[in-house]
Amino acid sequence: MDAQIEKVLRDLEEEDARDRTDGTSRKLRLRAVTPEAGRFLHLIVKLTSAQRILEAGTSSGYSTIWLASAARETGATVTTLEIDPAKIERARRSLAAAGLDDVVTIVEGDANETVQSTPGSFDFIFLDIEKELYDGLLNPLVEKLRPGGILIADNLLSHAEDLATFREHAEAHPELECQLIPIPKGELLCRKKTR
Ligand SMILES: C[S@@+](CC[C@H](N)C(=O)[O-])C[C@H]1O[C@@H](n2cnc3c(N)ncnc32)[C@H](O)[C@@H]1O
Repeated sequence: MDAQIEKVLRDLEEEDARDRTDGTSRKLRLRAVTPEAGRFLHLIVKLTSAQRILEAGTSSGYSTIWLASAARETGATVTTLEIDPAKIERARRSLAAAGLDDVVTIVEGDANETVQSTPGSFDFIFLDIEKELYDGLLNPLVEKLRPGGILIADNLLSHAEDLATFREHAEAHPELECQLIPIPKGELLCRKKTR
């Protein structure tokens, strides 16, 4: 990976680690995925040659950068949904610093609405938003996924109790086949069936 992108990722990792120990409020914290999860997303985008990528929960753009750096290599684009204008501003700066702003479109607003209003279908969707929103977003996201497309949800182990209903619904969903990947916080990897 490009040294400029690596540097932005390391800086965000340091800031995220500081946030978690220095009393920064939950609203202001970056709450980024782990580097292992970032690398996992990056690899799956490349392995599947996903062309249209959707993310729910941008924050500072840490996971977006992992997705967008893979997208840059495969000629794909990333659309990412975020409600907090301060986080959007922060993500724009991170993406510009990484030289990836031309690959990414940030859509401002409540993902409960913007998932439905964002046009087209997606090859790859990453879900990393407030945990109480996961279950309500499951069906709208499955509708946005093309048959054969991939849905990955973060925090299935770190927030196992909060996400138990979501996990049950995803694993029993007639259009999905899923497997929990036990990298640090737990990534639920699902494929939309083709028939
Ligand atoms: C866990 S953080 C995302 C971290 C990010 N994926 C990363 O790795 O850097 C969740 C984000 O979801 C955003 N969010 C919360 N509710 C939302 C909603 N209804 N619609 C869109 N974004 C929302 C929060 O503002 C926060 O930035």
